[in-house]
Amino acid sequence: MKALCYTRPLEIGELEASLDMHEVDVPEPAQGQLLVRMRATSINIDDIHIAEGTFFGGLGKSRASAEKPVTPGVDVAGIVEKVGSGATVFQVGDAVVGILGPKAGRGAWAEYCCLSAAMAVKKPEGYSFGEAAACAVAGKTAANAVGSAALQPGQTAVVVGASGGIGSTIVQILACGGVRVTGVCSGRNAALVGSLGAETIVDYTLGPFGEQLAGQKFDVVIDCVGGRDTERQALLVLKKTGRFVTLVGPHRFVGETRIGMPGILGMIGYVVRRVMLSKLSGPRYILAGVGNSLEPMEKLVLNNNIRASIDREVPFERDAVREGVAHVRSHRASGKVVIKIARD
Ligand SMILES: NC(=O)c1ccc[n+]([C@@H]2O[C@H](COP(=O)([O-])OP(=O)(O)OC[C@H]3O[C@@H](n4cnc5c(N)ncnc54)[C@H](OP(=O)(O)O)[C@@H]3O)[C@@H](O)[C@H]2O)c1
Repeated sequence: MKALCYTRPLEIGELEASLDMHEVDVPEPAQGQLLVRMRATSINIDDIHIAEGTFFGGLGKSRASAEKPVTPGVDVAGIVEKVGSGATVFQVGDAVVGILGPKAGRGAWAEYCCLSAAMAVKKPEGYSFGEAAACAVAGKTAANAVGSAALQPGQTAVVVGASGGIGSTIVQILACGGVRVTGVCSGRNAALVGSLGAETIVDYTLGPFGEQLAGQKFDVVIDCVGGRDTERQALLVLKKTGRFVTLVGPHRFVGETRIGMPGILGMIGYVVRRVMLSKLSGPRYILAGVGNSLEPMEKLVLNNNIRASIDREVPFERDAVREGVAHVRSHRASGKVVIKIARD
């Protein structure tokens, strides 16, 4: 099969130039796995961080060699080709969407991959494979964040980074649940975020969002950008009983740099302190997103017919994917960058 691979450990910024199309063996599904003939996948910012050894600021290393090329990618949308023993919920020919995890390995930017049946759900018929792939990690993370926000209909939320893959999905889930959403994005994405259900738009390029919203108080701020400045702005507009739900933490777009073990420990210490202290004095500080189930995503995203916003679909060709990676890395994508591996 064809797979996009890199063949040596990478430094920051090297993934684009290192990706090449290789011929590799089709993998065999192990117990509990499905062999999926891929139709579409997507590029997550964390695919880049994992490849370059900067995930969560540098936990883990970039590994690859000519003998052991590595294929990035975790979002899976395709057709079940083979069912491993014990994965009997699915049948050959089922259209599925799922996420590759540490056990199954990475490798979704390929014509086939092995997906754990526990991290797969049937693709709803109304979704194209590209739409389904865009909803995998983004949908799971968005659904988990919304779960942590624990909002009721009529309550108010600010979504920071509302035009990204995850933010665009969060805005829709909240609006669908009757939450009144304020989206923070740049002016160029204002129409998009409004069309997804945000009642009010704050253009962060005109000034810090907390200052622009001065005098108003919200039940929740969901942060898809990160950084202490985002948290400071959130605290200006949160009710004492409110929740600051961050997908990133105190380092903006953590994963772009290697912050080293002292930096990582400092970040963990900060989050633990904030979580504990905020329980006493509010607003609550919540680091969200992680979770090993697709159930919330299926319930809140797929069953509500919600689609992550798609910035572009690129063909499964080396140069097109290299450009897609560069676009995701720039943090300017208005939603997901999808790789179309084969026709629907
Ligand atoms: N906790 C978890 O489990 C988990 C899982 C997956 C991802 N993440 C993290 O979540 C973050 C968001 O991921 P994503 O894939 O949604 O990101 P993304 O798609 O790369 O977000 C890009 C969007 O962010 C907007 N943006 C950039 N800077 C901004 C700012 N200062 N204020 C408001 N909007 C800004 C951009 O809009 P403009 O061009 O208009 O500025 C663009 O539309 C990443 O840092 C990722 O590492 C966490």
